[in-house]
Amino acid sequence: MSEKPQAVLITGASSGLGAALAKEYAKKGAFLYLNGRNDERLNQVADECRTNGAAKVETYICDVTDRKNMKDWITKANSERLLDICIANAGISGGTGDIESSAVFNQAQKILDVNVSGLMNTISPAGEKMLTRERGHIVIISSLASFSPWSGAPAYAASKAAVRILGEALIPNLKKKNISLSVVCPGFVETNMTAQNDFPMPFKWTSEKAARKIIHGVQNKKEIIAFPIPLYVVIKMLSFLPLGIWWLLSSALPQKKGLKY
Ligand SMILES: NC(=O)c1ccc[n+]([C@@H]2O[C@H](COP(=O)([O-])OP(=O)(O)OC[C@H]3O[C@@H](n4cnc5c(N)ncnc54)[C@H](OP(=O)(O)O)[C@@H]3O)[C@@H](O)[C@H]2O)c1
Repeated sequence: MSEKPQAVLITGASSGLGAALAKEYAKKGAFLYLNGRNDERLNQVADECRTNGAAKVETYICDVTDRKNMKDWITKANSERLLDICIANAGISGGTGDIESSAVFNQAQKILDVNVSGLMNTISPAGEKMLTRERGHIVIISSLASFSPWSGAPAYAASKAAVRILGEALIPNLKKKNISLSVVCPGFVETNMTAQNDFPMPFKWTSEKAARKIIHGVQNKKEIIAFPIPLYVVIKMLSFLPLGIWWLLSSALPQKKGLKY
């Protein structure tokens, strides 16, 4: 028996992981609601999704930090077709940037706004709708960077730790209402975000491979989807180190470049 097509909403679908997820769900004949800021790239992804077999693709240009517009969009999408899956994927990344100036703090503010508040602006309205009918699946894109205070990208690591812990903490109560939640912790994935890194990225995956891993985990209602396993194991072990030792080790780790958005 063939599966019923799902209604899937994805933020940050105009490139990288979000685009790869959209294209994979399109192959399953999904109804897609896609968001991003770049019109041209988002439309290109939407066209590919239509070619790949999506039942319907709608795009919405909006900054995820715009709470009202995000709520309006998600409410409208859900009224057209009850959302089965909401993937809060949009995110930005940057390192310490210019440590001598206030830029480092402005950058940190921006990263936290997009990665934490933007994610809340996505999962809150979607989760509210799912709760009223006691069905649905929320997917939070965190990172393996969430497991340690990486000095090369302080605000990014903090933002990813915040959303991981938020998701992990929400799981038991949502479960009681039949809502599933998956926290995704990828290692390095080949996307625009990592294209600016000028340091070695061990076990780097393609965005297609990462998208397939995430979709498989969501289908199986996995609460934590972390990959690649060898890097996950190493990072989890390092996270048990006393902070003083971690700081010594982390001074040898690379610094992410400053935010270019
Ligand atoms: N790549 C990795 O190695 C890696 C590892 C762990 C976790 N992640 C996470 O995976 C997610 C996707 O990142 P990616 O690697 O695929 O990077 P990417 O190719 O740069 O994609 C980021 C996406 O987020 C969107 N976005 C950024 N700021 C936005 C905003 N304010 N409002 C709406 N959309 C916004 C971008 O849209 P526009 O370009 O249209 O603005 C783009 O579609 C992020 O949450 C990232 O932290 C990535």
